[in-house]
Amino acid sequence: MAEIRRVGVVGAGLMGSGIAQVSAGAGYETVVREVEQGFLDRGMARITKTLDRAVAKEKLGAAERDAAVGRLHPTLDLADFTECDLVIEAITENLGAKHELFGALGEVCGESAVFASNTSSLSITELAARTDRPDRFVGLHFFSPVPVMSLVEVIRCGQTSDETFDRAFAFAESLGKSPIACRDNTGFVVNRLLVPYMLDAIRAYESGVASIPDIDKGLRLGCGYPMGPFTLSDFVGLDTLYHITGIMYEEYKEARFASPPLLRRMYLAGYHGRKTGKGFYDYSGDEPVVSDFVK
Ligand code: 3HC
Repeated sequence: MAEIRRVGVVGAGLMGSGIAQVSAGAGYETVVREVEQGFLDRGMARITKTLDRAVAKEKLGAAERDAAVGRLHPTLDLADFTECDLVIEAITENLGAKHELFGALGEVCGESAVFASNTSSLSITELAARTDRPDRFVGLHFFSPVPVMSLVEVIRCGQTSDETFDRAFAFAESLGKSPIACRDNTGFVVNRLLVPYMLDAIRAYESGVASIPDIDKGLRLGCGYPMGPFTLSDFVGLDTLYHITGIMYEEYKEARFASPPLLRRMYLAGYHGRKTGKGFYDYSGDEPVVSDFVK
């Protein structure tokens, strides 16, 4: 099985920067690419902040941090992926943009390079089919925050070769993660179960069952979840959640995957959760409070 030495990560948003961080931290030379310098700087700043926090907590040595940062190669140019053995796409959940990206990567990457997508809900089969290497294509779905969450879903479709799947699975393990094997179906394992749960919480609120903080508290204390469903939705991003529901509903045509009206309105109004400062909660003060949209 060919060794993976150099990893490419496309996208330095919340997921892409997390993936680049764990890849560099595990010893891989890691090229991370964004479309604009501002996005790239923000992604790199997120990584250094997380690593600095780990050093301050004495979970990581300063030399290890510096070595990890030294293995990160930020770029705006896809041509810098030429030498990569594995390229992980973590851009926006837009099928057209992903097709275009993998087309361009096919032009610059070597024959044996494996392509992976961190998509949370698009079809791996469909993405793979439009590339020049459907047999060397997998899903590598990480969870947020990537440096903390140990799960990676490794998704194979009908075209994925055993060798590609094994390489991707071993790569996830080499990051210190605990991967699971999934077949390609929309939402894979976790989002297929998690998304209807998050949407149901919104519906429960819409029908007046309880307040947002009480529903959150109920699930935290009643089930031992680290975050209630509204805190989690804000954390994942209501824009991301809204896009996922659209893709899942389109696939399954089941009401449990459809966006509740409130989610759609919050999405349209720009209440996207933590990333915009307001979602179900308002994050402008010391402690989150219920946001004006849902008061
Ligand atoms: N980036 C990096 N590290 C972070 C972090 C971040 N954004 N947020 C927290 N951490 C680290 C902290 O530094 C701390 O590290 P330490 O134990 O080494 O000191 C550790 O995580 C615990 O953090 P805190 O003590 O500050 O806070 P909590 O104990 O409340 O944990 C949490 C924070 C890990 C985010 C926890 O609340 C949690 O597990 N929440 C649920 C997350 C979840 O469900 N994620 C999946 C979302 S679904 C998804 O991603 C799929 C997608 O397709 C939608």
